[in-house]
Amino acid sequence: MKLLITGGAGFIGSHLCEKYTKEGHGVICLDNFLSGNLLNVRHLLDYRNFKLIKGDVRDFNLVEKVMSDVDVVFHLAAQIHVDRSYIEPQLTYDVNVAGTQNVLQAAKMLDIKKVIYASTSEVYGSAQYVPIDEKHPLNAPHPYGASKIAADRMCYAYTQTYGMNVFILRFFNIFGPRQRDLGYGGVISIFTRRILSNMPPILYGNGLQTRDYTYIKDAVKAYDCVLKYDKPYTEPINFGTGHEVSIIDLANKIIDLCGKRGSMEPVNVEPRIGEVKRLIARADTARELLGWEPSYVLENGLTDFIDWYKKYGFEERLRME
Ligand SMILES: NC(=O)c1ccc[n+]([C@@H]2O[C@H](COP(=O)([O-])OP(=O)(O)OC[C@H]3O[C@@H](n4cnc5c(N)ncnc54)[C@H](O)[C@@H]3O)[C@@H](O)[C@H]2O)c1
Repeated sequence: MKLLITGGAGFIGSHLCEKYTKEGHGVICLDNFLSGNLLNVRHLLDYRNFKLIKGDVRDFNLVEKVMSDVDVVFHLAAQIHVDRSYIEPQLTYDVNVAGTQNVLQAAKMLDIKKVIYASTSEVYGSAQYVPIDEKHPLNAPHPYGASKIAADRMCYAYTQTYGMNVFILRFFNIFGPRQRDLGYGGVISIFTRRILSNMPPILYGNGLQTRDYTYIKDAVKAYDCVLKYDKPYTEPINFGTGHEVSIIDLANKIIDLCGKRGSMEPVNVEPRIGEVKRLIARADTARELLGWEPSYVLENGLTDFIDWYKKYGFEERLRME
């Protein structure tokens, strides 16, 4: 198959590029390196079936051109950080909403077989009931979540209006190798970097806010289930483990797994504005429709990730700086 992966030089996208390139599919990675990095895909550049295009999903003509010869589009390109969305709401809107609209419109014009859109659990806002199923109201309190709601609903509108085959994947938090560990990074990467560098993890507020963490290998497996599913399905699909973990427990688990118990404690600072309090997935649709089941419990994923980080994390970061 010929696959386009937008945001393919980012954390999740680079794992998809790697899997499908190594399986022999034709893979095009489109990325403008807003938060992605060439180092995430440089090992694929020697493969003749892998093509990297530096470009922007906000550019409709480019998107249309790049999509002219592909079977399936994995659309992941986005401004993904909640904090950055407070500072740059316009950028967040332009990339996440208008960029997605460009992908959908080009897919419609080119009659693309399947579009797989990376939505997020952040669309739900704080849980009104748990676990959160796909019928939960969409109450995101921040520009990032609002932009993802708009894009998620545009995907749905294209399925209803034009009969297109667009899958809407609502992932809860994903972690693993290549997730950024500085600035606008992922909490597990940031905690791991700090703890292994003998700096305590920082908790915003009391640390009792909860999330549901999926290891990257299970997220890649989820994408593959969707790619191989050969019927249409237009409703959103949650992907998460159903296990609720508070940030303070997460920090303490990482302190233990890094062997730093006794030398540090998490530090509390002022809460973040509008931070979602509670997110836990009900992923029955993913299980029943697609046969997806996560293989990693949190501890196993953390152990795998911390091993990777000790071997490559610091080195990768130094090269990226
Ligand atoms: N990481 C998570 O926990 C998580 C959870 C749910 C959903 N998602 C979604 O998954 C997708 C990928 O997230 P990620 O964690 O890999 O983040 P990431 O920041 O590593 O990847 C996003 C990629 O998109 C690229 N990009 C940004 N703007 C672009 C533009 N205008 N044109 C082309 N490329 C652009 C970035 O450079 C980056 O490589 C996002 O859509 C995100 O909303 C992520």
